[in-house]
Amino acid sequence: MDPHWRIKTLDDYRSAYHRAAHDPQNFWRDVAETFRWRQPFSTVAQGDLKTGECSWFLEGHLNITENALDRHVAAQPEKLALIWEPAHPDEPALHFSYKQLLREVNRTAHMLARIGVRKGHVVTLYMPMVPELLFAVLACARLGAVHSVVFGGFSAEALAARLEDTASTVLITADGGKRGTRTVPLRAAALEALALQKPTTVQTLVTLDRGLADPSVHQAPVHEVLWHEAIRSNDTTLDAAPCASEDPLFVLYTSGSTGSPKGIVHAHAGYMVWAAYTFANVFQVTPASVHWCTADLGWITGHSYLAYGPLLMGATSVMFEGVPTWPDASRLWQVVARHQVTHLYTAPTLIRSLQGHDTSYVTQCDRSSLKVLGTVGEPINASAWHWYHDVVGEGRCPVVDTWWQTETGGIMIAPLAGISPTRPTYAGWPLPGIVPTLVDDQGHAVSDVCAGGNLCIKNPWPGMMKTIHGNFERFLNGYLRPFPGYYFTGDGALRDVDGMYRVTGRVDDVLNVSGHRLGTAELENALNKHPAVVESAVIGVPDERTGQAICAFVVLDPSSQEVAARPKDLLSELQDQATRHIGALAKPQFVYAVPGLPKTRSGKIMRRILRTLAASNSRDFGDTSTLINPEVVHDIENIVHGHI
Ligand code: WT7
Repeated sequence: MDPHWRIKTLDDYRSAYHRAAHDPQNFWRDVAETFRWRQPFSTVAQGDLKTGECSWFLEGHLNITENALDRHVAAQPEKLALIWEPAHPDEPALHFSYKQLLREVNRTAHMLARIGVRKGHVVTLYMPMVPELLFAVLACARLGAVHSVVFGGFSAEALAARLEDTASTVLITADGGKRGTRTVPLRAAALEALALQKPTTVQTLVTLDRGLADPSVHQAPVHEVLWHEAIRSNDTTLDAAPCASEDPLFVLYTSGSTGSPKGIVHAHAGYMVWAAYTFANVFQVTPASVHWCTADLGWITGHSYLAYGPLLMGATSVMFEGVPTWPDASRLWQVVARHQVTHLYTAPTLIRSLQGHDTSYVTQCDRSSLKVLGTVGEPINASAWHWYHDVVGEGRCPVVDTWWQTETGGIMIAPLAGISPTRPTYAGWPLPGIVPTLVDDQGHAVSDVCAGGNLCIKNPWPGMMKTIHGNFERFLNGYLRPFPGYYFTGDGALRDVDGMYRVTGRVDDVLNVSGHRLGTAELENALNKHPAVVESAVIGVPDERTGQAICAFVVLDPSSQEVAARPKDLLSELQDQATRHIGALAKPQFVYAVPGLPKTRSGKIMRRILRTLAASNSRDFGDTSTLINPEVVHDIENIVHGHI
């Protein structure tokens, strides 16, 4: 597929950027018209960042799966759509052509329709990285149902909260997932989530039976259907449901600086255009490309660049159930060689962890197929960038550091592979249609080219989130009201003399641990549920491998002081606590029992002081005029430095 909007040169980029900025209506009309519509749209874009009610391709009807599947089945039915690499290297990989993938999606959609899934229903998926997860995601979209994929590393409690928030009536899980030699008991956690949600909204549980656990041992509290009993082999055709452009396509939960996780909602048409446009242009994919995005489908990266982006462009996408370091640190490169991967898209944290192993793990594998290397999820440090570029890519492959968010639907700032300049640690220039701005804390745009500030976007774009599920106010408060007239990203950034952006990290109370987003409030809520904990404050401390590590300061109940004397027990108890309430990804690495937390008169925790204390020997806390309990700072300092 080579649509006219494919950027091929720097001049193409400049003219597309200029046109999208000055004539967005016609620019996006021309892009969107290259897709398959059931009913053409008449209004390209409507609304602005002041009201937050931005709509795209109005009056249009379409189905994203017709664009991701049927279009290619008509043109190239035998083209490889999906390669699935199993957890164990000795098991065979599975291959699906576009024709086969469409058949599987249709069979899955028929099964879901039989159990009552209809347009607009929310279906929650809590599954391992198996082809059936992709089939189910696309089957939901084909029926016009809304998918909500919950990463399998989240706990039963986190799953229950998400089921409740969307009032899902169907939950799809599997008996287990495979991680190295371990089986992740997904169905067991799903049953626990159903029991926690009282009364549960779920009416039907669908379990993919992989032979990893016996489903008859524990009875589900709701009607349960086994995938292989419910799926029918002859259900291979199904007309996709036409959806209005603004109908929701999916909900995906992410963490914010306050409160509970928020369900980010994306709509059919705008998301489709954005996922395809950014995928084709950033990665410069050709019909022969084999694109491997290592992200789990439980994250937005998996949605946009494992599932939708590659399929919309008719590329071949690789899906991997295993872990990149098992059986050993060469696995990632073995998979690259086995499937002749041309485009590898992964996270800096993984690059850093592989960088820590002997280079022979990389060099023993054939990487000659590689053409483009991508990163996403967190700032990439210069040393990891160079290792990726020089060792993995042998200096041949452009590295595209792509900055974006769950909320943005797709890549916002990134080099276009082989076209725009790259600079280690810089995401570079914005994509056509994106006008970034740096604003100071008072909300004034910083006019100097070389500057730093809060990263905002000046204009709506097709992939922009619609709302937070069930809470439009929270959407306005979180993104559009902090700096009126702009979309606020929550990130800080620097801009260099060439107008290239370097995103330095969150400026709000959100942590990024191994590319996973966690809210300090969410973590504190989990720790505060521990009977010994009166209150807590969580901060991120720099970590060489994970970017940030979780550091918790806890005030203990006087009757529980004895655990303070056993720091190891306290740490492991609070790690269990975070694992139970959120998931293993939320485990604190450091826990300090302290007599009090530094607070302002209004009761707000001054995390800035804790960050300074935990990360350095400095006593430069900045402005402390609002601090009401300076005495605790000294105590905390002694505790932290006593520990180190
Ligand atoms: C946050 C979004 C986008 C998919 C994966 C994470 C950070 C993301 C970069 C990058 C520096 C980055 C930001 C952003 N981030 N990519 N290339 N350079 N920081 O999605 O969970 O929604 O997190 O990840 O802080 O706001 P997410």
